[in-house]
Amino acid sequence: MIFRTSRPTQNRAENARIGPATDAFPAIELQGLSKTYGKGRHAVTALRDIYQQFPAGSFTAIMGPSGSGKSTLIQCAAGLDKPSTGRVLLGTVELNRIKEPTLTTTRREQIGFIFQAFNLLPSLNARQNIELPIRLAGKRVDRDWINKIVTQVGINDRLKQRPAELSGGQQQRVAIARALAPRPRVVFADEPTGALDTRTARDILELLRHTVDEFGQTMIMVTHDPVAASFSDRVLFLADGQIVDETTDPTADAVAARLTRLER
Ligand SMILES: Nc1ncnc2c1ncn2[C@@H]1O[C@H](COP(=O)(O)OP(=O)(O)OP(=O)(O)O)[C@@H](O)[C@H]1O
Ligand SMILES: [Mg+2]
Repeated sequence: MIFRTSRPTQNRAENARIGPATDAFPAIELQGLSKTYGKGRHAVTALRDIYQQFPAGSFTAIMGPSGSGKSTLIQCAAGLDKPSTGRVLLGTVELNRIKEPTLTTTRREQIGFIFQAFNLLPSLNARQNIELPIRLAGKRVDRDWINKIVTQVGINDRLKQRPAELSGGQQQRVAIARALAPRPRVVFADEPTGALDTRTARDILELLRHTVDEFGQTMIMVTHDPVAASFSDRVLFLADGQIVDETTDPTADAVAARLTRLER
């Protein structure tokens, strides 16, 4: 996908640092991805033979009933879980073939993941949590960018507090800021706005949209909320481990209507 022409050159340089110029390739490609948990009669097949491309600089929402495989899909796509069969390509790199410690480095530099269960480090304050992935990657902390993120997610006055001193919604916002801080090529988010009030949710969705439009970041977001999905370019509908439909340029109403038919 082509970056906006109005993009300042400074951002182009930044993107060159994020990763190689592989715009000819999708940011993420899933080839025949399947995942079965357990064995024998206890086996649960969570994903069935998924083929899908996520273009660089696109924002995709993934929706579907509970248990349809949404979390499994993004965890496999992000290299956090191993598919039973199939391949995940991150640009031109086959994620499942790289071994530790290279896998951890690749994930840290190129992939951001917003977990539903925050996963913040309890001994670090909010600012230290947000800056940790940048420091671990040995990169320079861009103060202006960090300030912009923490202001937009609304935790700029909570940066000295540790996770235990923050509410669930505030911890979620720190987790979102942490995922965006190093400007990874691809950001995965599992229900990033589920625990938030409508206003904060909207601010965060606008920030996610902004990182896609301005920095060519690729966003893949699981959500149950048709309004959240309407911030994306495309919605994939998952049912029983398969992609059963997709909508481009979604409106909240169209998504809600499609979802109702799916869940019946
Ligand atoms: N670690 C696991 N061990 C066994 N089965 C699992 C495991 N993780 C997920 N599953 C099963 O795989 C299927 C898909 O689960 P998944 O968590 O991907 O669904 P989901 O679409 O994210 O649901 P929700 O909307 O409730 O979060 C479910 O049947 C679930 O029970
Ligand atoms: Mg889930």
